Formats: sequence, structure tokens, C-alpha cells
Amino acid sequence: MAKKLPIAKLGNPVLRQMAAKVDPRDIRTYELQQFIDDLIETMLDEPGIGLAAPQVSRSIQLVVMGCEGEDGFPQTVLINPKIVFYGPKQVENWEGCLSVDGLRGKVTRPSVVRVKALDRDGKSMDFEATGLYAVCIQHEMDHLIGKLFVDRMTDMSTLTQLDEFSRYWQKDSTPVI
Ligand code: NI
Repeated sequence: MAKKLPIAKLGNPVLRQMAAKVDPRDIRTYELQQFIDDLIETMLDEPGIGLAAPQVSRSIQLVVMGCEGEDGFPQTVLINPKIVFYGPKQVENWEGCLSVDGLRGKVTRPSVVRVKALDRDGKSMDFEATGLYAVCIQHEMDHLIGKLFVDRMTDMSTLTQLDEFSRYWQKDSTPVI
């Protein structure tokens, strides 16, 4: 049975560390498979559309994500991910984070990324992502190098508390990752 894990919040040093690579030989162990299930369960329970292992105080290169709906994308597990290509176009999106309670802010990122990673079976993946999927991948991978979305904001005047967000800005999209 998957269990919910406690989430490290802004100020916890684990969110600022460089995450260690996962040894591919460990991927198919019961322990790591259970951890992946727990990570997904925690993300769904919050709810969020992405969660990185350092956010549950385990500093390894593993992220999970998934989002239903119009701009949604399939449930994805990325192990030791690398972005091998960034599209030339930049897009601005509202972002939030399960480790940063009650705040939203606008972040500008490349609109397209090509990613190489291992999946939860240890198989190689190589794919391109756009839209919310691309935003989520970049946000989650930032967690693996100790970065939070607030570090990526270029205009801090968009930093917004949740109640004011719903009052004034909700109509824009708002991934909570
Ligand atoms: Ni986050």
C-alpha cells in the first residue's frame, strides 16, 4: 500500500541540495518501486501535478508528475533526467509549489524541452514536451539542483498570496508543482 510522505517546506536545507544520481541497478528493487508509489500517492493526495524526491527529504534524481484535463499530460516517472534541448521560444506561466505554501508567481521558461531519462522500469526514455508538461518537467528538475520557482522569477512583483490570486489572477493557468 502506498503511503503519504511528509513534504519539506521552503527553508528546509534538503530543498537546496544537489540530488544524487540513482544507481540504475536499484531502480527495480522493491524499496525504490515502493518509494515511487509513495511519491505518486503524496502528489495525488495534496493534490499537485508534480513532485520531486528531494521534496519528501530524499535527495535523489527522481521526479513524478501527471495532470488530467485539457492541458494535461500522462503520469510520468523520470529517473536521472537530463534536458538535452531547449526550444528557442520562452513562455510565462504562473507556478506554485507544494514546498512553498500559499504563494504563486510568474516564471518564464522555454516552451519546448527534449528530455532523456530512465522510466520506473529502468528503460531509456527520449521525448519532447510542450505546454504545461514542459513547464512541469523544468520545475521538477529544478528541485534536483536545489532550485525553487521563486529563484526563477524575474519579476518579483508577481509574487501573490493564494487568496489574492483567486481574487485577481485565477483566470490564468496555475500549475501547482
Ligand atoms: Ni515544486
